[in-house]
Amino acid sequence: MPIEFAARTRRIPVYPLAGGYDLGADVAMLASNESCFAPLPVVAEAAAGVLGATNRYPDPSYASLRRALADRYGIPPGRIALGNGSCDVLLAAGEALLEPDAEVVYAWPAFSVYPHLAAASGARAIEVPLDDADRHDLDAIATEVTVATRLVLICNPNNPTSTAVTLDEVEALLRRVPGHVCVILDEAYCEFALTLGDTYASLELLRKYPNLVLLRTFSKVYGLAALRVGYALCGSEDFRVAVDQVRQPFYLNAAAQAAAVEALRHQDEVERRVTETIGNRLEMVDEVRALGLRVAESDANFIWLHLPEGVEEADVVSGLKDRGVLVRAGSSLGEDGSLRVTVGTADENERFAGALAAVVGG
Ligand SMILES: Cc1ncc(COP(=O)(O)O)c(C=O)c1O
Repeated sequence: MPIEFAARTRRIPVYPLAGGYDLGADVAMLASNESCFAPLPVVAEAAAGVLGATNRYPDPSYASLRRALADRYGIPPGRIALGNGSCDVLLAAGEALLEPDAEVVYAWPAFSVYPHLAAASGARAIEVPLDDADRHDLDAIATEVTVATRLVLICNPNNPTSTAVTLDEVEALLRRVPGHVCVILDEAYCEFALTLGDTYASLELLRKYPNLVLLRTFSKVYGLAALRVGYALCGSEDFRVAVDQVRQPFYLNAAAQAAAVEALRHQDEVERRVTETIGNRLEMVDEVRALGLRVAESDANFIWLHLPEGVEEADVVSGLKDRGVLVRAGSSLGEDGSLRVTVGTADENERFAGALAAVVGG
């Protein structure tokens, strides 16, 4: 007799994992929106520095990282939630907020983990199509908020489509959402977004809307994806308390804590990397558009392109892979006929552009 698992295991969609980790070094890894820059040596040293003391559990109050983030953003430490990646905070939010008969509203396609929240809790997922420019339709999202809504997720810039809405547009939505409904603004890529101004801009909204949560990560611009560190700046302490209540203690390991604290000390380097990435993104977009393909307006460290009629997405993905370039198929992210491509180094981007031209016949 097979083991009988809970019904929710049949509902939870399998996360579309990227492949290619076994392909060796000579591959352009443009499938997971990671940073193409290695962490600074001093950040790697900070992580390595704790390895001699791993007989002790990590600080369960995460005091240094909480303090470093509090100082940087001017938010009390008690209103900062931390996680084993921002995914961890997201899943904990689903657990803390959702239950059968509750509703969670989000745009689709958006981050692949969002459908997990409703499936795991038995809540209803209300998926609102993006507009014709692959952007969130915030008016349509606001219209879907009902008495059953517990959570609204806004991915800004949106993964997979790379587009951002302005903070004025976000505020217009916040004005329409009742104060007991939690709104998570998932800002995993906000550092790359010219549309959003600087990374402090959305903090203005936190002061006005206690039901707002800004979800951020060290996995992208800080280049610490493998260590798994995410955080949330919360409009109220209640959110932080609730997501901590549903999780195991010690969710953030000591190396991750040390590296994140050190990474925050090097904002000049962060800015330099952002500038280089944005420059490379503009070039990548130009090259793809020169092939006659439609590309969404990107505010992230990746682009979203639409393949012409009659061109099979799977053929393009495998053609690129044959040429040593890994990208993400739109069908695995919610929209067939599209590709999500991470902005890599100048060399990787050149390799991608050449391979794409060869595959789509440019
Ligand atoms: C929009 C968005 N939010 C959150 C995450 C989760 O990032 P992490 O768990 O690595 O912090 C990702 C990762 O790709 C993402 O694209």
